[in-house]
Amino acid sequence: MTQQYGILAFPAKHSLSPVVFDAAFKAIDTDSQFGFFEIPENELGDFMDRMKAGKVSGLSVSLPYKEMILNYMDQVSEDAKKIGAVNTVVNRDGVFYGYNTDFVGSSQALKEAVGDLKNKQVVILGAGGAARAVIYGLLKEGANVLGILNRTLDHAEKLAKEFSEMFGVEIKAFSSENLANTLSFQKELIQAETILIQTTSLWTLQPDITAAESEKFCPAEYVKYFSTVMEIVYKPLFTPLLKTARALGKKIITGDKMFLYQASEQFKLFTGKEAPMEVMRKTLNENLSQ
Ligand code: ATR
Repeated sequence: MTQQYGILAFPAKHSLSPVVFDAAFKAIDTDSQFGFFEIPENELGDFMDRMKAGKVSGLSVSLPYKEMILNYMDQVSEDAKKIGAVNTVVNRDGVFYGYNTDFVGSSQALKEAVGDLKNKQVVILGAGGAARAVIYGLLKEGANVLGILNRTLDHAEKLAKEFSEMFGVEIKAFSSENLANTLSFQKELIQAETILIQTTSLWTLQPDITAAESEKFCPAEYVKYFSTVMEIVYKPLFTPLLKTARALGKKIITGDKMFLYQASEQFKLFTGKEAPMEVMRKTLNENLSQ
């Protein structure tokens, strides 16, 4: 039987999930399909009601619904509960199961580049829903999250407190409005091998950002303290921050890596089968814009 899946987001049209999942379904010889569910917020309830009674077997959930969707779940995995966000919904005979595969994706992407994460030092830029999954994944792997830097200090403090308590560690919070102010913290704590992970939605919200604005957001003077810089968005693939890091000779990790690994975990949850990684990787690469 043809199973229907889709990306639930608003807007959704930029997502590469449909093309990557369709190629993966074809590779394992099912005629399942993956579409776009671009649903405005005031229609979310109706959409979920229709899904309960209908034929959609699963969802990839993206902005702005990863937290809101929790209200519609019948069962939520322990990881998704702790993160406070769901990016994967599986519909088993009208019962909605919520999972989070983002934390697996981000940790896997980082491990691939720097090896075992235990005791690795990491600084996080951003304190939104995406940051929550990344931080959770890092702490689960035994990484040392030194600090969370965010435009709104309150948000960083809230996240730092919550995860410090959850994992019994100390995480500091800083305003990212003037990163130079945190340099003394960086100099003290950052040794040769510290990783910076950029999780804000800045590049998505401001695709036409000027060089001066992006330099203000994360100056080269700051980036130079890190050995590795990772992004979790794949549009654009080489963000202004990654360009700065690359010019400074740093190791960079583009956002397509996290996308691929979170999608392969979703594939397992949707189908119960291992994901055809090479097909997914190749399709993703063919569709990424530089
Ligand atoms: P997501 O699910 O993508 O994380 P979110 O939960 O809305 O989305 O969080 C967005 C993150 O990007 C936040 O850390 C936000 O900073 P605030 O907490 O100050 O709102 C950050 N962000 C969004 N636009 C930004 C901008 N123009 N400059 C800096 N940070 C920005």
